[in-house]
Amino acid sequence: MSLLEISSIKKTYETGTESVEVLKDINLTAEEGTVIVITGESGSGKSTLLNLIGGIDSPTSGEIKVKNLIVTGKTEKELTHYRNKFIGFIFQFHFLLKDFTALENVMMPAIISGDNSELARQKASRLLGDVGLSQRNNHFFLQLSGGERQRVAVARALMNDPDLIIADEPTGNLDERNSGIVQDILFDMVKKYNKTMLLVTHDTAMAQRGDIHLILEHGVLTEK
Ligand SMILES: Nc1ncnc2c1ncn2[C@@H]1O[C@H](COP(=O)(O)OP(=O)(O)OP(=O)(O)O)[C@@H](O)[C@H]1O
Ligand SMILES: [Mg+2]
Repeated sequence: MSLLEISSIKKTYETGTESVEVLKDINLTAEEGTVIVITGESGSGKSTLLNLIGGIDSPTSGEIKVKNLIVTGKTEKELTHYRNKFIGFIFQFHFLLKDFTALENVMMPAIISGDNSELARQKASRLLGDVGLSQRNNHFFLQLSGGERQRVAVARALMNDPDLIIADEPTGNLDERNSGIVQDILFDMVKKYNKTMLLVTHDTAMAQRGDIHLILEHGVLTEK
């Protein structure tokens, strides 16, 4: 079954004096359980595309469907629900809340959904175990290394059992060794929980681990 269907997406940014046409005609279908890697030069529009699919921003025209739900044209309230339930985000910067422990950060998507907090705590603890951080449950943000923070972010992305993982340069801020660790954990988790993932990276080794590799260039996607 196709999980994601994108048709004729255009995105033009209007900045008062000029308009920048970033995405010209994006079409993409992602089957459930696949990892799609998108690469392209800096400024080619990769983050723009992920933000549209994740419901962070809206396209100028075209349609995005996730699990047969039309994402485009939704209200801000509907998009908040969509992001929380359907999408697991991992960014280059972890966006952990600094006054909360690793465990609480992982629980956060479930807390936002209003789920039972004891069950959420157990699940978050299991996910932290999955990413090899069971010894770090009660560490605060400042007590975690950069690599550990990204591992917490991976666990958090899986908390609400999302349909789609969106990862925008998840290892972009890490040294080579930690990049390798986070990469392995991310791919293991996607496999273990049978997730579909859209992954943007500048790392050629990681790009090769996807099932499909697409290049974003001149506002369109082409197969590598
Ligand atoms: N909010 C915005 N308003 C105006 N222009 C924007 C906005 N966001 C992005 N752009 C422009 O859109 C283009 C694509 O940006 P985007 O961040 O999607 O690129 P990218 O492929 O993710 O680059 P990188 O690899 O450096 O992360 C750039 O030219 C950028 O300047
Ligand atoms: Mg980007």
